[in-house]
Amino acid sequence: MPRILFVTPELAPWMKSGGLGEVSHSLPTALRDIGLDVRILVPAYPPLLTAFPDAQPVADLAPAGVALPAARLLEAHSEDGLSLLLLDCPALYGRIGSAYQTPDGNDFFDNALRFGLLSKTAALLGTPDGPLTWHPDLIHCNDWPCGLAPAYLHFERANAPTAATLMTVHNLAFQGNFPAHTLSDVGLPTEAYGMNGVEFWGQLSFMKAGLQFADAISTVSPRYAQEIQEAEFGGGFEGLLRGRQNDLHGILNGIDETVWNPATDTYLPQRYDLDNIEQKAANKEALQRHLGLTVDPTLPLLGSVSRITHQKGLDLLPEIADDIAALPAQLALLGSGEKALEAALAQLAERHPGRFAVHIGFDEALAHLIEAGADIFLMPSRFEPCGLNQLYSLRYGTPPVVRATGGLADTVVNCTAATLADGTANGYCFNDISGKDLLVAIQRALSGWHDRALWRHLQTQGMRRDSGWKQTALRYRSLYEDVLRKARYLA
Ligand code: ADP
Ligand code: GLC
Repeated sequence: MPRILFVTPELAPWMKSGGLGEVSHSLPTALRDIGLDVRILVPAYPPLLTAFPDAQPVADLAPAGVALPAARLLEAHSEDGLSLLLLDCPALYGRIGSAYQTPDGNDFFDNALRFGLLSKTAALLGTPDGPLTWHPDLIHCNDWPCGLAPAYLHFERANAPTAATLMTVHNLAFQGNFPAHTLSDVGLPTEAYGMNGVEFWGQLSFMKAGLQFADAISTVSPRYAQEIQEAEFGGGFEGLLRGRQNDLHGILNGIDETVWNPATDTYLPQRYDLDNIEQKAANKEALQRHLGLTVDPTLPLLGSVSRITHQKGLDLLPEIADDIAALPAQLALLGSGEKALEAALAQLAERHPGRFAVHIGFDEALAHLIEAGADIFLMPSRFEPCGLNQLYSLRYGTPPVVRATGGLADTVVNCTAATLADGTANGYCFNDISGKDLLVAIQRALSGWHDRALWRHLQTQGMRRDSGWKQTALRYRSLYEDVLRKARYLA
């Protein structure tokens, strides 16, 4: 069985900005459950140091590059049996904030160094003179913060055999581009900088480094793997990705059913499952009450939990807010992100008291209550590499209304006469990014909601969908094996 080093900038529940944090916990768990030897390398952010006070130092790391400071590796084991390697460097990671930003939403000024060190350490562990007795066969890199690891290893390979690499793209919109002079700060050779190297429009790009030098690339849904080969979604990397299409794979994420299961969810005032789905109504009442919405079971309640960014398409809501209120329908929205959009959405709640509630912030308990208490879940994303929230809403019997893109298109089956007839319908999709099209999709969903039998059918389809991690883990295992076979053959 191959030994895998899973490298990530986020790890739920201790440090999570979005789906990547959750995937970074669930996927290694599922890989371990099918017999792989997996260790997770993650920066030792303060919440991790607090959660693992007994973490043992296992290696000292000398300063690397002109600007990467000395650090330590600590080993820890989570209660559910994950093996963690915490990269301890208080000068870079001992901060208040998210993995990437200060509490007021600005990127840390030295993110190139913070994630340069993460990448460099991953690469070091993948070389024969790595500081541990454990040597990974393959390094699984996740998003731009790990992108330099394949580049370091590429330039090491001339000297010695190194671990193979897989670069998984969770979101191509975040590219980790930094001024060209960063190259020497992070200790990459000058020859790395060029069109076929880490240079991207006059900058050093961590994402490009990963895409260029990893042995294989994956993304988190098959549709997104296709989409990013086109200019609309490729973020400037579409040519590179088209050139590597034989090495590019789309593997759909799963969901952690120990956390996201309406039958066992401890955040819910009322747990339920398919055979007592009418009890879901108690969560709707609790949600209406909690958010100060009019408590009325006959008003359809739309829910959304999201980062508030351009990606997620929530800017479509203000132009159709009056129409939604007049349907009539209620809206419960939880999210945080871009300040101007947060303010515009918050205003909707002021304009439609009792109908709209907008909660700005990050609130795990409320996220679960919205998944369970809403009747319909909204995800009008411009692009969506995979999306976890629509998978949760399917599991919670809350049919989603989504834009047909990326992982949303791969998981939500639009309700039409044909999909109802073949029994696959589980939600509603629309195509154009426009308030009008979103509104039409919401109206279609509402007429479905008023038809009890049809609605029960959609809920059943969604709740029965197998979104567990096992299938996903098996696909990654076979990809790891292919990559290793090829890397050994080429060596
Ligand atoms: P992305 O990673 O692009 O943000 P995903 O759908 O993959 O989108 O995952 C988002 C995850 O973050 C979900 O688990 C969602 O519930 C959670 N989340 C997003 N915003 C919030 C918030 N404001 N409060 C609580 N959870 C949130
Ligand atoms: C990113 C994407 C999201 C995906 C998540 C986990 O944050 O935006 O679509 O579900 O990563 O892979």
